[in-house]
Amino acid sequence: MGDERSFVKHVIKKGIIGIVVGIFLVGLARALDFPPVFQVMFFTYAMLGTAVFILLDAPSLQPMGGMKALVALLAFYVVLSGVYIGGASFWPQYDPEDEKGKIEKLLKAKRAATEQGKAEELLTRTKALAEKADAIMQRLQSVGGVAMASVPVGADSKRPSGTLPAATGDLVALGKEQWELQECYNCHKLSGQGGKKRGPEMDNIGSLMQPEELRQKILDPRSWMAEGFEKEYDKKKMPDKYKELMEDKDIDALVAYLSTLKNPSVNTPKPIKKK
Ligand code: HEC
Repeated sequence: MGDERSFVKHVIKKGIIGIVVGIFLVGLARALDFPPVFQVMFFTYAMLGTAVFILLDAPSLQPMGGMKALVALLAFYVVLSGVYIGGASFWPQYDPEDEKGKIEKLLKAKRAATEQGKAEELLTRTKALAEKADAIMQRLQSVGGVAMASVPVGADSKRPSGTLPAATGDLVALGKEQWELQECYNCHKLSGQGGKKRGPEMDNIGSLMQPEELRQKILDPRSWMAEGFEKEYDKKKMPDKYKELMEDKDIDALVAYLSTLKNPSVNTPKPIKKK
């Protein structure tokens, strides 16, 4: 009898501790903005813990054997399963179809917005591309026309010394267009413009690299490294794609253009030969 009384006392003591812990957990969950379902769940966990805590003090059962042990085991299993299944059915049930419906509703509005946005963006891009193509066509026509007009057969020797053939000037203009088309300006500042992703400024590159060297750098960015840009060089920031994207004449033009960039007031870093 004494045993039973002290067990009851333990139950009360541990029960109170369990409830205090449970209330503390709910308070904490509330302060952290957990939804009510979670608050209930935390409290339930505290109660389950308390139950185990109390069971530790329960008087031990008489040893069992044979059929009796088997039946007791099965009964234990049935009770435990019942508790699990019963307990689980208390929690809010989620219907996947229901949730899918909600998500679909949310997405529909978003999708409509982006599809319209995409179409608009594509239209503006197509327009910009068409304009670029027009500009290049005009350039090409003027290159052909001027070259033919200004260089009649045998006229070469009569050109006043110091003037470049008109075609060279146009080659440079074409190269400038390649600079734009290939979007070198994304990483390289030139005349104070571009270079968001910060490669070296290009304004004085014509004084530092020979045309052949510039060609090497464009065709294989590993071939040269700008001094002070070791980290970017190691990370292969400059794309290795121009040899596929550009035709020979595009590269000629771009190199011709870069060779004209000789502004010593800008600190274009020294190129270092790598391979
Ligand atoms: C995604 C960024 C990026 C793009 C785009 C890019 N570059 Fe670079 N470039 C770099 C970085 C970073 C360096 C410095 C590290 C190095 O040398 O590899 C560099 C270095 C160079 C150098 C050597 C400069 C020096 O002072 O030594 C040249 C020349 C050059 N780029 C030309 C070009 C040309 C021409 C294009 C367009 C066809 C281009 N780059 C496109 C990032 C880029």
